[in-house]
Amino acid sequence: MSTTTTTARNAVVQGVRVIADGQAASGAYVASPNFAEYAYGWLRDGAYCALAMDAAGERESAAEFYAWASRVIESQQARIAAITGQLADGRLPERLEMLPARYTLTGEPEVIEGEAWPNFQLDGYGTWLFAVDSHLNGELSPAFAASVALAARYIDACWQLPCFDYWEESGDRQHTSTIAAIAAGLRSASRLLGDPSFETTARTIVQFMLDNCVADGSFTKGPADPRVDASLVSIATPFRLLDARHPVMVATVARVRAELSTSTGGIRRYLGDTYYGGNPWLLLTAWLGWHDRLHGDDDGYRRARSWVLEHSAATGDLPEQLLDEPQDAAFVQPWLDRWGPVASPLLWSHAKFILMECGTADVAWS
Ligand code: BGC
Repeated sequence: MSTTTTTARNAVVQGVRVIADGQAASGAYVASPNFAEYAYGWLRDGAYCALAMDAAGERESAAEFYAWASRVIESQQARIAAITGQLADGRLPERLEMLPARYTLTGEPEVIEGEAWPNFQLDGYGTWLFAVDSHLNGELSPAFAASVALAARYIDACWQLPCFDYWEESGDRQHTSTIAAIAAGLRSASRLLGDPSFETTARTIVQFMLDNCVADGSFTKGPADPRVDASLVSIATPFRLLDARHPVMVATVARVRAELSTSTGGIRRYLGDTYYGGNPWLLLTAWLGWHDRLHGDDDGYRRARSWVLEHSAATGDLPEQLLDEPQDAAFVQPWLDRWGPVASPLLWSHAKFILMECGTADVAWS
């Protein structure tokens, strides 16, 4: 066995440990255990951690996360009814009325004081539905019946609303990756609930993406933003909304690689990112490596794997990003002054590494 393979196996073992250690008694996964701003359970990060734990054979941990999120969503039932009711009457709810991207580890919406977190994000609910479907292999168990229906009704009603994106930015627009996560979640809900109306919305969304979110043959960050974003890889891996060989998907992945790779081979979020200077992220590099492994680009996979391993901390922890390849170095120190050192370990960095190594093509449905 090569040294890299051994190191990668050890990194999977360590990743499983980091994610397990970051799981609260409630079942929530903390985004990062030692970065104050990330001391919450995000549905987006958590869903990927659960997919990774399932892929690594840690089904009990994944089940506890899904059950936590299920309870959280059920606790928002009145809010979901109010939001969907207003939308059905042609009224637009206030942004603060919408469901949050993250909850406290015990499962409550955070108490908003001062500057509010950009909490209105829709992708996490779609990703959670997709991940639950994968966990249950398409067979709805009674414990999830209410929460799956609630989450599906919510994102079905809201998919056209502008909201904050994966990176908690640009709350005034729609984002291709966000609506892709919604489409994936609705397909899953349709299968789990046996309700074809959610599949109909999912198809409408994919057509909307093809009609409004493509420029020069490749997906863009959004209908109003021609840049490419590394999270667009999700459309094929893991969501499989389009086949990886679909020309638009091929062009999108090529554009991510051409425009967002650094000279060392890490992948940035998007051009113009200033968060901690806009460096490459470990989870994005592993995400592309996961896609490459599933779709036969062995060189791409190996490069991604080596890059992530080379950029892990001496302890083996995987941070969010390193600070040595900023797009704009002027933004590094202001973030260090504001929030301290970059989050490490970041649980979903470990999740993406595990998925790159162990994720199969049929996470979720075929
Ligand atoms: C990222 C989000 C992530 C959160 C917690 C933010 O900086 O933009 O995508 O969910 O950190 O990890």
